[in-house]
Amino acid sequence: MAKVIARPGLRKIRDHMVNFPSDLHSEKQILLNSNESVFGPSVNVASAIRSSLDRVERYPENASASLARALSARFNHPAAQIVCGHGSDDLLARLSRAYLAPGDELVYSRNGYPKIPNYAYVNDAIPVAAPDQNFAVDVDSILSVVTDRTRIVMIANPDNPSGMYLSEESINRLHSGLPNNCLLVLDSAYVEYVDAADFGHPAGLVEKSENVVMTRTFSKIFGLAGLRLGWMYAPDSIASVVSSVGITFPVSTTALAAGIVALQDKTHTDRVFKLNLEIRDEFSSKLKCLGLEVIPSQTNFVLVGFLTGSKTAVDAHRYLEANGIIVRRLASPAYSNYIRFTIGSREDMAITVDFLKDFLSQRKE
Ligand SMILES: Cc1ncc(COP(=O)(O)O)c(C=O)c1O
Repeated sequence: MAKVIARPGLRKIRDHMVNFPSDLHSEKQILLNSNESVFGPSVNVASAIRSSLDRVERYPENASASLARALSARFNHPAAQIVCGHGSDDLLARLSRAYLAPGDELVYSRNGYPKIPNYAYVNDAIPVAAPDQNFAVDVDSILSVVTDRTRIVMIANPDNPSGMYLSEESINRLHSGLPNNCLLVLDSAYVEYVDAADFGHPAGLVEKSENVVMTRTFSKIFGLAGLRLGWMYAPDSIASVVSSVGITFPVSTTALAAGIVALQDKTHTDRVFKLNLEIRDEFSSKLKCLGLEVIPSQTNFVLVGFLTGSKTAVDAHRYLEANGIIVRRLASPAYSNYIRFTIGSREDMAITVDFLKDFLSQRKE
């Protein structure tokens, strides 16, 4: 009997996380595994969320009207060039669906954001990995693998899991080396945490070009990961294509209400930015004192290498998890000696340092 068969690319989709625990969110655990904001949303957002519950029997209003207007007011981008979606994941998936036909190539940095190849596989397209430089995106390496089948180059800047970034100059060089029919997708999920002076801003390149798109999220500094809200800034023609491939009402009433108020609450995001920077620097220097390698980060997480001695990342992961500290290891063998720690509260990070100290001082059995 004939069987129903899914597209062949779907069989290649792989899990990029190791050992995702199923019983998270217990009060006793410290969750440092998903780069969420431990500071949550502001109180004003919480009250907008509660008020939105009075309207849930209705479909949401059109996100591109109210939220795009609010984004336009805050960031000074024309509202017609903004598309909102169910997390930035939705927009990255829609871009891939719109611009990748079977057999087309999507180029990405080999040890960059691990979800990227899956955006190609679901469309029966071909992910092409460009070798990185010790986890950093390598512009020349990306340009060297671009062919006339390349339709998308997708990078996260700053990147996850490394936390590293490409300067504005490097991004411009990458863009200048691409053919005009190749879309450059700048996944900017962590852009609000950046303080590097040479970073520039991806919006500038979107404005100057016809083939550059920036995706953004409310899941990180805005503290709204659970509501699934993201947006994209793109040239008019790309914005209208991506709008047309979305589901009907891709943003819920509650996410819309929360997003609009979150954008007005700059004091909250400024505070989270500052706290993240301070706590990340403190945590990083303490880990360096313990002899661990800490990759310099421009995000709300740090990648930490367990490269010397007999203490492995696998053992550290187990030890921390047994003590209620949930951290992230990545499936790629390049990361087998590394753990990614989301920056939590000062207290959570101090507890984590203490457990790491204990772990490192134990003698191997
Ligand atoms: C680099 C990067 N891009 C995109 C996303 C997806 O974010 P969301 O769908 O929550 O907006 C994440 C989530 O962690 C990420 O790390």
